[in-house]
Amino acid sequence: ETRFLADYRPWPFRLIETRLDITLAPRGSCVRSELALERTGPGPLVLDGGAGLHTLSVCIDGAAVPPEALAIGGEALTIGDRALPEGRFTLSCTVEIDPEANTALEGLYLSGGIFCTQCEAEGFRHITWYPDRPDVMAPFRVTLRSDMPVLLSNGNPVASGPGWAEWHDPWPKPAYLFALVAGDLRAVSGRFATSSGREVALNVWVRPGDEDRAGFALESLVKAMRWDETAYGREYDLDVFNIVAVDDFNMGAMENKGLNIFNSRLVLASPETATDSDYERIEAVIAHEYFHNWTGNRITCRDWFQLCLKEGLTVFRDQQFTSDMRSAAVKRIEDVVTLRARQFREDAGPLAHPPRPDRYEEINNFYTATVYEKGAEVIGMLRRLVGDDGYRRALDLYFDRHDGQACTIEDWLKVFEDATGRDLTQFKRWYTDAGTPRLTMAEDWDQGAGRLTLRFRQDTAPTPGQPDKPPRVIPIAVGLLSPNGDEVVPTRVLEMTDAEQSFAFDGLGGRPVVSLLRGFSAPVTVDRRISRSERALLVAHDTDPFARWEAADSLAMDSLVAMAAGAGSDPALSYAYGGVLAERAMDPAFLALMLRLPAEDEIAAEMARRGAVPDPDAIHRAREALMTELATDHARVLDQIMAEMDCPLPYAPDAAQSGARSARLAALALLSRIDGGERAQAVWDRAGNMTERMGALTQLIRAGRAEGALAWMEQRFAGNRLVMDKFFTVQPMAAAPDRALPVARALAARPDFDIRNPNRFRALIGGFGANHAALHAADGSGYDFVADWLIRIDPVNPQIAARMCSLLETWPRYDEGRRAHARRALERIAALPGLSGNTAEMVTRILAAR
Ligand code: ARG
Ligand code: ZN
Repeated sequence: ETRFLADYRPWPFRLIETRLDITLAPRGSCVRSELALERTGPGPLVLDGGAGLHTLSVCIDGAAVPPEALAIGGEALTIGDRALPEGRFTLSCTVEIDPEANTALEGLYLSGGIFCTQCEAEGFRHITWYPDRPDVMAPFRVTLRSDMPVLLSNGNPVASGPGWAEWHDPWPKPAYLFALVAGDLRAVSGRFATSSGREVALNVWVRPGDEDRAGFALESLVKAMRWDETAYGREYDLDVFNIVAVDDFNMGAMENKGLNIFNSRLVLASPETATDSDYERIEAVIAHEYFHNWTGNRITCRDWFQLCLKEGLTVFRDQQFTSDMRSAAVKRIEDVVTLRARQFREDAGPLAHPPRPDRYEEINNFYTATVYEKGAEVIGMLRRLVGDDGYRRALDLYFDRHDGQACTIEDWLKVFEDATGRDLTQFKRWYTDAGTPRLTMAEDWDQGAGRLTLRFRQDTAPTPGQPDKPPRVIPIAVGLLSPNGDEVVPTRVLEMTDAEQSFAFDGLGGRPVVSLLRGFSAPVTVDRRISRSERALLVAHDTDPFARWEAADSLAMDSLVAMAAGAGSDPALSYAYGGVLAERAMDPAFLALMLRLPAEDEIAAEMARRGAVPDPDAIHRAREALMTELATDHARVLDQIMAEMDCPLPYAPDAAQSGARSARLAALALLSRIDGGERAQAVWDRAGNMTERMGALTQLIRAGRAEGALAWMEQRFAGNRLVMDKFFTVQPMAAAPDRALPVARALAARPDFDIRNPNRFRALIGGFGANHAALHAADGSGYDFVADWLIRIDPVNPQIAARMCSLLETWPRYDEGRRAHARRALERIAALPGLSGNTAEMVTRILAAR
């Protein structure tokens, strides 16, 4: 059933308080709820509920609702108008649910013997009958009964005794922020004093034995709490803050009020088991969920169409946090790489949708790169347009005006208008219109007048349901360099509002080179005529680190696209690399990014954008050939980098060390193309941490000599699910394209390939899907493998099945043979009897591109 933004109606009741009394048992948990309600309009009382609720009683003010006034359908409980008292009343329901049978991991379920919940977006309705919509907010009082030693819920602990605990959350919240946890857990604890003097007890709860891997998460939490006070003036508002790590979790983590629940991969880390990027992710996601306390919880969403109100803003905030904790330049480039790989890809395909969609079938299918990452980019543009001060004033007004409310994108834009006096009518299109604008730039140089005129055009291709794309406001940050590399005009932001628009720079002594879209000032693609030598100049001298990286990246991209179409490689690229490698003072993390070549999927996307049909095998060969060439040309200096970037002990996951390791491993990746895996073996043999192990292992697999390393890993880490997930991912991902499928099949046949664990499923199927040439094998075997597993997982966990459908979203790019195979695979999924609504929506949308 399709839901429409335009259909929003307020709920005709007021919810004053929610009381829950929950007795936990694996097969039959009993949930008693008491809702203090008040009528504010006509109509029956309709509550949401799932098929798994076994309803035992429904009473109003203590008396059973007469059967003729009560209707319990599949997903709604309705109490007729006439059975409802005027004014205030209490509705109490008792239901029984079966957490052990819950393999969808939505609502209340068991993960490794721990009771836990996931209620966003609409999971609470699987726990009891409720107005399960984000604009219905109430304080919660919760009693948990269980013989588990640790019983947690939202808010502050009130009282407890043997077998029970009571929690009270004074802050009104929607049901999607409810959580409970019950289990045999150990806390790694700390304290935090807020700037106004509130003492907060901090706990990271893990399974016994995992305590020594929870310290970094706790440290990250403290950093995030401090940062939100300094950067946004936001303080924490309860006496306790609990984080719980569970092994079975559909997403990364969840910001439940005062009780964040995390996928254990985003909590547990030690140098032996986690990589530098795992550490960076943990720090960022701990912060992300914490930041939700203000952007999401204190101010929440009116309805799920507004999801990017909280997610875009919270991603933007966690990106700012990471920039402050580590290198801002490196973080920006990493974010752009992910945005292009995931969001541009989404925007260019059948699943394109705006950051604020106006319709959906299943909201869980809209936790996307567009809502999250593009939602954050839109805020970055806003900030650039109104300036840092304007942004700060707007945010202060937002927190001031909307605290305690459930809001919309309109509310959000209005605070910017009111705080800065700017009209954001046109800007709003970034929220309502799908698609990535293409920005075309031409240059007119007038030597006599010393004037450079930049002529821009913007076009956005039609997306599903949106044929016309009016022009948007595009902030274009530009700087000008002289031909010897000096910056003659520092960054200036051009504000483009028309379909075609020109901007002039006067008083120039000679023709400059344009450094365009500095800092990636807008989520657009760029077409410009630029010579190789101008690009090389930017690679060597641009003062804006993003633009500098971008110049190198696009030089590499041009080469790869040409090579994939049969041309030879471009010597200008290797020459530019030589210059980069020779620069001694470069931040190693930045150097690692400069050494990175575009991924095969990005190359395919770029070819499609240029109107070509990508050939996955040719792309793979081209990329390998270019890496081999770069390694051959620069072996000596790459070896020097490997030696210089060998970090001293002890291991630290900080920016400096992880940057050095990433440069070292980028050099290793290149050199492994020409040494048959010798150096990778040496790195593996001496590796003292998981980062180097994974860097080396990837190259050993590529070189076909990883047996020993894999056997060691399996033996050493058989009991560690998170490390074994890496074992499942890296093999199909790094295998030669024609080896990936047999490797993936063999892994899928192992007894520890447990598809009830989302991490394990994603590890293997996602790892295989990351092998571009294997996924898009000409005979369709890659598509069939993915489809087979989506079909198997759909009845177990529809959310995971639906999310992983995006592996198949790029099929329209490829040749007719591959397209036919992909269509057949998708149609096979679509035809499945009993297919979940989640997956049905995804497959239908993906197939609609035919
Ligand atoms: N709000 C969570 C976060 O971004 C994500 C939870 C989404 N859950 C889901 N079932 N779609 O931090
Ligand atoms: Zn979030």
